[in-house]
Amino acid sequence: MLIIINNQNVFSNATTMKLDLPRYTERFGATSLHGVQRVYELDSGFDDGKSMSETLMKVGNEQISEIERKMAIVIPIKGERLRLLEGVLSGVPHDCLVIIVSNSPRQPVDRYMLEKDALQQFNKFVGRNALILHQRDPGLSEALNEVGYTSMLGPDGVVRSGKAEGMVLGMLLAKMAGKEYVGFIDADNYVPGAVNEYVKIFASGIAMSKTPYTMVRVSWIYKPKMSETGLYFSKWGRVSELTNQHLNSLISYYTGFETEVMRTGNSGEHCMSLKLAELLTFSSGYSIEPYEIVNVLEEFGGIIPTSYQDAMDKGVEVMQVETRNPHFHEDKGEDHLKEMVVASMGSIYHSKICPPKLREKILESLRTRNMLEEGQQEPPAPVKIDPFKDIDIRQFAKVLSKASTYAQ
Ligand code: GDP
Ligand code: CO
Repeated sequence: MLIIINNQNVFSNATTMKLDLPRYTERFGATSLHGVQRVYELDSGFDDGKSMSETLMKVGNEQISEIERKMAIVIPIKGERLRLLEGVLSGVPHDCLVIIVSNSPRQPVDRYMLEKDALQQFNKFVGRNALILHQRDPGLSEALNEVGYTSMLGPDGVVRSGKAEGMVLGMLLAKMAGKEYVGFIDADNYVPGAVNEYVKIFASGIAMSKTPYTMVRVSWIYKPKMSETGLYFSKWGRVSELTNQHLNSLISYYTGFETEVMRTGNSGEHCMSLKLAELLTFSSGYSIEPYEIVNVLEEFGGIIPTSYQDAMDKGVEVMQVETRNPHFHEDKGEDHLKEMVVASMGSIYHSKICPPKLREKILESLRTRNMLEEGQQEPPAPVKIDPFKDIDIRQFAKVLSKASTYAQ
């Protein structure tokens, strides 16, 4: 069930990256939300040690490779085409540990088996480490039960379906593997070069961060769509626009100043230090990305008390970096968009820090778009996933490896 593919160590040859320092920052309790930073050069050449200007920063080879070695890249996948997965794998820098968490159908064709084979073949050629598991595997729920971490289990006793559930499992495996950072990349990306850029951005953001509690979110420069006249390079997805608008309202309500700082409310491509990740409560399915921001504000925004004093002392940083590569992924249609909007809005609406005025605004925008089902008064409250900081990760690993020998 859990396959570990071995690797010999090979030297990496990462390039440097040149990007903006944060130009403005919204402070919210112990949290700093930085405005979008741009990438100037994907490869800024040999690092001659000359200092940069006051507004740009060059992140060096060594530093990027060192961070990549401490990073796991989690790829959640549900029934995507294998060619796309292979492309994504080829874009992930060699030194990152790849963790694929699949919720693909196992019948009539065992798609998971195909993914495993593709990964195995890929790894044979490039010689690197990877983990893969199926999120609904009974061995996995046994291990979760064993360590008392049950908030992801459904009524049938196995882990629920949902992207968030896959991501949290990926984080557990990253922690199990002793990694310090965990990044997420969707499996349905058409452009391996973009995937590579995302990871360089993750590493550069971490290199710039001043606290161990850090998150780096990718803001796509364009999300192209097919139109009658050819490719149209749209700036914002429709879901993102709504989510960002309401996250910004939430921030403005508390600071008293209107803001547009949040641009990455739905960004699937993001990374966190495990030190931050393990403190967060997650929200299931597609509401995970916006709720990460809401939960950071709940925990570290200084509005309601927190038990995480160390993070309050050291501060939490959220960075947003705009890519150079456009984002091309599978088009999943209208119903999927609707599901994402309702889940995203629900995660803000049901937050204990969401003011009544914002609740009204959320309802209004859902109603005008006909997003609520007949008779539904409000978006459903998303199911929550507990923080994983207190899990006995060794015990989890032990049960998991025992279960996996049965499963194979
Ligand atoms: P969008 O890109 O945000 O519109 O959403 P997608 O439907 O493309 O999903 C993002 C990624 O999550 C893709 O790689 C999906 O295959 C994957 N995914 C979606 N649902 C699940 C799930 O239930 N479990 C896992 N493990 N992955 C999922
Ligand atoms: Co997608």
